[in-house]
Amino acid sequence: MNIKHRNGIYTIDSISVKEIAEKFGTPCFVYSDLSISRNFEEIRDVFSDDKKSIYYSVKANSSLSILKLLSSLGSGFDIVSMGELDRVIKIGADPKKIVYSGVGKSEKDIKRSIELGIYCINVESFSELERIKKIASELKIKAPVAIRVNPNIDPGSHEYISTGLESTKFGINLKNMMDAFIYADEAEYIDLIGIDYHIGSQIETLDPFIEAVSSVAKIIKELKKKDINLELIDMGGGLGIDYEGNKVPSMKEYGNALIKAIKDNNLEEYKIILELGRSIVGNAGYLLTKVEYIKRDSEKNYVIVDAGMDNLIRPALYGAWHNIICASIDSNEEILCDVVGPVCECADFLGKDRKLSVSQDDILIITSCGAYASSMASNYNSRPKPPEVMIKNSEVKLISNKESIEDLFSREIII
Ligand SMILES: Cc1ncc(COP(=O)(O)O)c(C=O)c1O
Repeated sequence: MNIKHRNGIYTIDSISVKEIAEKFGTPCFVYSDLSISRNFEEIRDVFSDDKKSIYYSVKANSSLSILKLLSSLGSGFDIVSMGELDRVIKIGADPKKIVYSGVGKSEKDIKRSIELGIYCINVESFSELERIKKIASELKIKAPVAIRVNPNIDPGSHEYISTGLESTKFGINLKNMMDAFIYADEAEYIDLIGIDYHIGSQIETLDPFIEAVSSVAKIIKELKKKDINLELIDMGGGLGIDYEGNKVPSMKEYGNALIKAIKDNNLEEYKIILELGRSIVGNAGYLLTKVEYIKRDSEKNYVIVDAGMDNLIRPALYGAWHNIICASIDSNEEILCDVVGPVCECADFLGKDRKLSVSQDDILIITSCGAYASSMASNYNSRPKPPEVMIKNSEVKLISNKESIEDLFSREIII
């Protein structure tokens, strides 16, 4: 992490946190260009060659400046909606470096992806395959597809982000997948190029990833027996980050473990894609927030701040833990407290049972907010979205304006 504390001042990439908060207001998301680049380069340098590529998973953080940065470093993109497609097209990404996942692709979405010539559509159900076949036949353009399978591997993460178990809404389970492969292989306007899986997110050990590679190697062997030959294995994303001081594999360890698993399972002839999100941007982002009030209760102390679940929903949604640091380090008495937002929900908390020495108007730094924070934000309670800034070459640059109240009303029609 690139947050530092010296002589009573907290800095991110050598820029004072308090100065950022003063200039841009709070709440405010802050990203480090350096940190995102380092994370990407660490995996790229062990994993990329003419067969292996990293496709950043746009859902983790879809900011145009972050997409542009990753594109300039050589990343492809994993998208799950037309909104995400428009974002990557906007920053000039090559459609041939886009894969499209997601369980609910509409006819329009599929048609546009085929016409645009994206690299691959990751198919999540038999019905989707039938729809692609129909649309591709009408267009008379071969649709490149990979079948997303569920290898039924427990990634050991929260149930909401364990996506590769036997029964989830994602992918096709082992029992039904062969029918899908055969159907795709036989369809005139489907170009069956690969197999895809994504077993989950925030995975903190290497074993589930390695298990998934050997599970897929067995499927590929079965397919070969039926004379179905693929060129691509999309291994999804999922590498976890350190939220709580927990030890997670580094990008390098992860990349090397996958390379070994690919070799051990004789899969070196295949193109490999990794769809990483969290591990590229997660620890490169911070949410700055101001203490509005401190409420001392007989049962509990509440530190009420100006950021809420509308900005960072992970604690409410998954019980996720983010480190909270007070940027003002006067010698206040430490209190045991819940750090809560202004939103009218009991679930609106950012941290529970924290020991903090804080005063009213202090700035708090919530760490590891680069992934699944701003991209999951809402306007609940009619709260405008906060500004986002990026530290680049020792300068703080605005990459997203604070939403205005007029922005909030802009789609509405009073009747
Ligand atoms: C299909 C798919 N690919 C990639 C990712 C990115 O995962 P992560 O951010 O954990 O690397 C996700 C996120 O859940 C996903 O659903």
